[in-house]
Amino acid sequence: MPSLALLALGLLAGIVSSASAYPYRNGSRLDQIRSMYAWEGFVYSITACQSQEEMTRDFTRMKSRGARTVITFDFCEDGADVGYYDDVILAAERAEMFVIPLAWTLPIHVINQNYTANDTFLIKSVPRILAVTEAVIRNPGPVLAVAVGDEPLYDNDAGSPSALASYVTSMRANFTSAGLTIPISISELAYGWQSSSGNITDLASQLDFFMINEFPYFAQNAEAGGDPSTWTNFLADLEYFEGLAGGRPLLVTQTGWPSNEDEFAPNSPAVVASVASEKAYWDLLDGHCEDYFKLKNIGWMWRSYRDDIEGWGVVELNGTDKWEWEARVRC
Ligand SMILES: *[C@@H]1O[C@H](CO)[C@@H](O)[C@H](O)[C@H]1NC(C)=O
Ligand SMILES: *[C@@H]1O[C@H](CO)[C@@H](O)[C@H](O)[C@H]1NC(C)=O
Ligand SMILES: *[C@@H]1O[C@H](CO)[C@@H](O)[C@H](O)[C@H]1NC(C)=O
Ligand SMILES: *[C@@H]1O[C@H](CO)[C@@H](O)[C@H](O)[C@H]1NC(C)=O
Ligand SMILES: *[C@@H]1O[C@H](CO)[C@@H](O)[C@H](O)[C@H]1NC(C)=O
Ligand SMILES: *[C@@H]1O[C@H](CO)[C@@H](O)[C@H](O)[C@H]1NC(C)=O
Repeated sequence: MPSLALLALGLLAGIVSSASAYPYRNGSRLDQIRSMYAWEGFVYSITACQSQEEMTRDFTRMKSRGARTVITFDFCEDGADVGYYDDVILAAERAEMFVIPLAWTLPIHVINQNYTANDTFLIKSVPRILAVTEAVIRNPGPVLAVAVGDEPLYDNDAGSPSALASYVTSMRANFTSAGLTIPISISELAYGWQSSSGNITDLASQLDFFMINEFPYFAQNAEAGGDPSTWTNFLADLEYFEGLAGGRPLLVTQTGWPSNEDEFAPNSPAVVASVASEKAYWDLLDGHCEDYFKLKNIGWMWRSYRDDIEGWGVVELNGTDKWEWEARVRC
């Protein structure tokens, strides 16, 4: 009986999803990801619990500048409200953007919060994974993919890579029951994969593609955003991911360079954090459109849209451009 009920739900979800059909021009979502290269869009913090209208405005504005995809960052309130993820996805649909909802698996916010006894993966993070899964099943159209965690290996959110993998498996099973094929990954640093004390093999094999967090700003030898060492560091991490992925698609879901050191301190004494350095890194990426991103079929998304991740945005908190930013979406 339960399996029949699930089947019926799956058929229903299939009907709903075709009603809100999205143009996956290359066939499937994974083909779409495989075909993407150049600048794709932005990382968008939802810490401020923006309303659906505010998000629609932001997404429409970034779309008017060429963005096509947005990935969420952090969480609203306790992060376990299905209705809030519905709002995020519907805002993307209204703006005709793809969205990658990210289930925030660090029990607490990235900054400005201290751990309490209740701030554990099981109490705080798992309900967020379940909420994202449910909202995606309710409104699958604009959802290009789902991220299970932001740097979950670097922070060892789940206790082990295989514990995290079990949530990826469960999410996929629930998508499948709902008649959906939605790529799942984790948004992670090369260093997160490399430094994990657990066995990463099963987790890596569970992922449909690799979402990459790439921050040459944190390198021990970082200088200015546009310096040759920045690109060398970028390439070294990407080569690692090519090996890990074994032919599966790559997408740089988070990259950027800050205009100040306020939110995340660097590791190099020679680093330059300024608007000029931030712009230079943006232009460096755009400048490698033909010879790298198109050649390798890799898209890049900038952290962050707004300066609510302090210093990392392309627009100020009041919406003013930090510089005249522009990047090619094809080349
Ligand atoms: C994806 O679709 C676009 C637009 O239809 C097309 O130009 C491109 O060649 C396709 N890419 C792949 C990998 O199929
Ligand atoms: C976290 O703890 C530190 C050190 O005890 C304290 O200075 C800070 O105010 C606390 N932050 C919050 C948001 O409670
Ligand atoms: C942890 O959660 C329990 C149950 O909701 C609550 O009674 C308790 O006050 C919480 N403890 C802290 C430190 O927040
Ligand atoms: C998948 O569905 C099952 C059955 O309803 C539920 O127990 C499980 O928590 C769900 N997993 C996720 C990741 O949503
Ligand atoms: C890691 O897990 C894989 C798959 O379960 C296994 O084949 C491999 O031997 C493990 N590696 C180590 C170093 O334990
Ligand atoms: C927006 O904020 C920036 C930085 O605080 C400031 O320089 C600029 O004047 C503000 N613009 C408007 C229109 O308020």
